[in-house]
Amino acid sequence: MASLTTSLGPLHLATPLIAASGTVGSVVEFANSIDFTLYGAAVAKSVAPEAWPGRAAPRIAPLGDGMINGIGIQNPGIDAWLDEVGPEIAAIPTQVWASAVAHEPDGFAEVAAKLEQAPITAVEVNLSCPNLDGAPFALDPVLSHDVVSRVRAATTKPIGAKLSPDAMPIAAVAAAVVDAGADWLTIGNTVMAAGIDVRTRRPTITGFIGGYSGTPIRPITVRCVIEVRRELPDTPILACGGVSHADHAIEYILAGADAVGLGSVHFAKPRAARGILSGIARYLDREGFSAVGELKGAYEPWN
Ligand SMILES: Cc1cc2nc3c(=O)[nH]c(=O)nc-3n(C[C@H](O)[C@H](O)[C@H](O)COP(=O)(O)O)c2cc1C
Repeated sequence: MASLTTSLGPLHLATPLIAASGTVGSVVEFANSIDFTLYGAAVAKSVAPEAWPGRAAPRIAPLGDGMINGIGIQNPGIDAWLDEVGPEIAAIPTQVWASAVAHEPDGFAEVAAKLEQAPITAVEVNLSCPNLDGAPFALDPVLSHDVVSRVRAATTKPIGAKLSPDAMPIAAVAAAVVDAGADWLTIGNTVMAAGIDVRTRRPTITGFIGGYSGTPIRPITVRCVIEVRRELPDTPILACGGVSHADHAIEYILAGADAVGLGSVHFAKPRAARGILSGIARYLDREGFSAVGELKGAYEPWN
């Protein structure tokens, strides 16, 4: 059987599947319902320097063929997180990564510095968070560079920068965060969206504008991976957006991704990873690949 082990920059992964931030709680909360041995890593929900209360309900809802969320990154703050989640991490049978978030660049660095002694393998920097002016860091290469360089200075752990499909051009933000010291790029987060229920005439979620995820965003994120891969042929990429089937993960790897995130699929099918992983293995065997890494970027151009 073909090998499913892979790497993402300095990180060696048992499988190319990553449980995406915010879709498996703190990771330890899901230890009994998700088989984490099927994943190369699991990313905890983003955590800020201080507790954030999140938005009022409804803050998550089905919308079209996907879902919208405007949770407001509710989290207990890094000090409580370290007390409550930290001691449980060692029992998780895969790598656990933390995810840092803040409204100011120094806040990201504060979270990363406090995580230095935690039993996590890496820190993902969630740049899709509004700064003090209300716009996400991830849309601006200069601000994103500032955040990632401060996190780089605050930790010795590998760091990933999580980009937004809304950034235009996304390759400019990607180049900026790699220059600032990111070990890998996570492409990407949700796509900004909104909906109104015509029966109640209310916005779908209280925050009105939120993040769209699931099947409909996949072609957008595939486009992002292709654009970044063209500009940065050697940078490790974790692709994330709308994966619920082995073919979707394979598509991202063909586009140039090193690993693939599973996000919204966990809400409908918490055990989806098993079928996706065995589907990738079957494809590799059938198509004559001996390792998943051989598939990376192996799409056939038209000319
Ligand atoms: C309910 C929900 C909460 C999320 N929370 C976070 C978060 O805290 N930090 C983060 O970086 N991404 C968060 N995300 C984004 C996911 O990690 C993922 O990037 C996005 O949903 C796209 O993947 P998908 O289409 O497979 O869901 C969240 C997504 C959902 C649906």
